[in-house]
Amino acid sequence: MLQNKRILLILTGGIAAYKGLDLIRRLHERGAAVTPVLTRAAEQFVTPLSVSALAGEKVYRDLFDLTDEAEMGHIQLSRSADLILVAPATADIMAKMAQGRADDLASTLLLATDTPVMIAPAMNVRMWDHPATQRNLEQLRGDGVAVIGPNDGDMACGEFGPGRMSEPLEIVAAVEAHFGPKPLTGKHILVTSGPTHEPIDPVRYIANRSSGAQGTALARALIALGANVTFVTGPADVAAPQGATVVPVQTAQEMQAAVNAALPADAAIFAAAVADWRVTSASDKKLKKSKDGLPILEFAENPDILAGVSQMTKGRPGLVVGFAAETNDVVDHATAKRARKGCDWIVANDVSPKTGIMGGTENAVVLITDKGADAWPRMSKADVAMRLARKIADALV
Ligand code: C5P
Repeated sequence: MLQNKRILLILTGGIAAYKGLDLIRRLHERGAAVTPVLTRAAEQFVTPLSVSALAGEKVYRDLFDLTDEAEMGHIQLSRSADLILVAPATADIMAKMAQGRADDLASTLLLATDTPVMIAPAMNVRMWDHPATQRNLEQLRGDGVAVIGPNDGDMACGEFGPGRMSEPLEIVAAVEAHFGPKPLTGKHILVTSGPTHEPIDPVRYIANRSSGAQGTALARALIALGANVTFVTGPADVAAPQGATVVPVQTAQEMQAAVNAALPADAAIFAAAVADWRVTSASDKKLKKSKDGLPILEFAENPDILAGVSQMTKGRPGLVVGFAAETNDVVDHATAKRARKGCDWIVANDVSPKTGIMGGTENAVVLITDKGADAWPRMSKADVAMRLARKIADALV
């Protein structure tokens, strides 16, 4: 909750500014007071009237607005807030912040402040990937600016990739975590995420539709609560969480080795969709079509990483959590899985195509513990992650 918190919200000029309107509402719902600042470019995307109506406060727009200078002054405006949030943050404002430029109200406020600053970048994928933006990002992180997102996804410009602003609820969760207690400080938590790729030959592989979104959201939530996270990830669609120690892997066997290398841990969360089988007859040369018939693939079962860690006799993490992606009889299958693998909790969900959960932004989970099954309402993957992270924190104290 954000009662008694004043947030100076700077909206800069990107199409994601429309999400800034929802962000104001969400911050208000949680009790925050929002002082909005619009750049000139932001005014091309949202009107000052709609922003001030939602914020219930005057919109600040111009450095040389003398009334404002007399009323408050830009220095005081920047310092009277508990947090400065820049959402959306364009490549341009990031560049200005990294260089310490102050040629309009927004950049001047950011330079004049000693208040914590969070940014939610939003831009075209090429702008995000550009070495200049990545340089600025590193500079800002080094300067102590907290960065929320961006997410991967379809963009207004028709391209796909990282650069889409985090959803308002993800930003709110990061803001709440900023103000909230950090119960996981000093805890090491291992998270596996994403699919695995099991090679058939150097160019082909067997995989599954896991995007890595839920595991990534979970790692972000754990980090926000203060955990030191090792994030072992297969080739996911979404960018790995900032602030984690990221260990990229391809296959289940590599994932198992990375997990073992990352132990000991206070808790281990197995959100990866590990391939059950690998191709033992994988070729080191590309398979060719031949008149002699179709290739025959031979399979072997992959190691069950979750079961292995759950059943460790020495050095077992204090809490081991598995996931169960099912398409029918979710609770029954997941309850049996918990017993079979020996983990403490199972987070079960229905991934049949009609639910749109696999690869989507929402999730509806049932948490299976020794106390039985607890069905959570459908919510964003970020909200599932924060709720689960808080439960993990409660279990570890
Ligand atoms: O048996 P199933 O694949 O349904 O189990 C799902 C759970 O087990 C997930 O938590 C997944 O990360 C984990 N798992 C694993 N290693 C495997 C298979 C699954 O860690 N080889």
